Amino acid sequence: MRLLVTGGAGFIGSTFVRRRLSTNDDEIVVLDKLTYAGSRANLADLEADPTLSRRLRFVEGDIADPEIVNDLVSSSDAVINFAAESHVDRSIIDSSAFLRTGVLGLHTILEAARAAEGDGDGARSIRVVQVSTDEVYGPVITGDSREEDRLDPRSPYSAAKAAGELLVKAYGATYGLDVVITRGANTYGPRQHPEKFIPLFITNAIDDQPLPLYGDGQQRRDWLHVDDHADAVGFLLDHGETGGVYNVCRQEERTNREVAERVLGELSKPWSLVRTVPDRPAHDRRYAIDPSRLHALGWSAQVPFEQGLRDTVRWYSDNPAWWRALRDGAWDRYYEHQYGWRLAQSVEA
Ligand code: NAD
Ligand code: TYD
Repeated sequence: MRLLVTGGAGFIGSTFVRRRLSTNDDEIVVLDKLTYAGSRANLADLEADPTLSRRLRFVEGDIADPEIVNDLVSSSDAVINFAAESHVDRSIIDSSAFLRTGVLGLHTILEAARAAEGDGDGARSIRVVQVSTDEVYGPVITGDSREEDRLDPRSPYSAAKAAGELLVKAYGATYGLDVVITRGANTYGPRQHPEKFIPLFITNAIDDQPLPLYGDGQQRRDWLHVDDHADAVGFLLDHGETGGVYNVCRQEERTNREVAERVLGELSKPWSLVRTVPDRPAHDRRYAIDPSRLHALGWSAQVPFEQGLRDTVRWYSDNPAWWRALRDGAWDRYYEHQYGWRLAQSVEA
């Protein structure tokens, strides 16, 4: 297949490209805007590989730009859209880019697919896989969210993701586009930007810097290894039903405190590095999803959390150049804005 992978220079997208190129014969075009979260370095090993690089092309550009998107979509068999602004805390500071990419950018992709399919006689079909998140369900205090549950996003990030999903569904219903939606759980693993919880705690602990734990640290997340997330998206590209929505998780629920303890344990660092800081507004207490629908299709996640976390800690320890390069002046300004006052008010955890 000829695949267009948007956001393919980011954390999950680049993992998808790496795994898909080495297990399939697909030709892949990556379209990525290279925001602060995207990096060509995430694809460098693939671009340097004499065999794999023949089936990989990188295009720098915005999914909201029809001049670029129309041609790329019309020459593809499928689009897998990973492109998004992805950090909840940044969406609380300023959500404009979340909406621009998550709604208008996605709309540009859907319009391009509709135009490429022409009069809808079925002669040409372009599958669009929208990579969404379990955060669209909002917090679930007990039980697990199922795909038909109502959406209740509470952060600008998850609201933008939910809005994008609704648009995808509408294009499936109205124009008969072949669409699939994946709702992945909190993902961790190599090459995740150090703004996110697990890599932030790993890299700060390596540097003996404080680990800012929001509120009581009893919030719960369901952790999914990036290899599993990428493989599930590939599986659903191949086997998902048209119009299907699929939860993706391994049911590895942990409190943030438990995760912090494990990170410190792997690095032999003391608990005293952890600081309780003022909470994130509207912080969702718990996410938990039911993966039965995906299991019934024949796919389940493989990487146990403890093993995946150990490997992830090792990756960040072995690759300081990768994450230190991201800690530039813009990072310092973000960090000061997000954590300066919080750490000033912090107490022992
Ligand atoms: P990421 O921030 O690491 O990567 C996003 C990529 O998209 C970056 O390479 C960025 O440059 C690119 N991008 C952003 N705006 C763009 C635009 N307008 N045009 C083209 N490229 C653009 O994010 P991630 O963690 O890899 O997440 C990928 C997708 O998976 C996102 O849609 C996210 O909502 C979803 N998701 C993430 C998680 C998680 O825990 N990380 C869980 C479930 C779902
Ligand atoms: P995050 O990686 O931002 O993912 P999400 O909010 O999308 O689930 O955060 C995961 C959890 O870790 C979430 O409950 C918020 C918490 N957290 C902290 O306690 N401190 C931090 O500095 C960050 C970034 C997150």
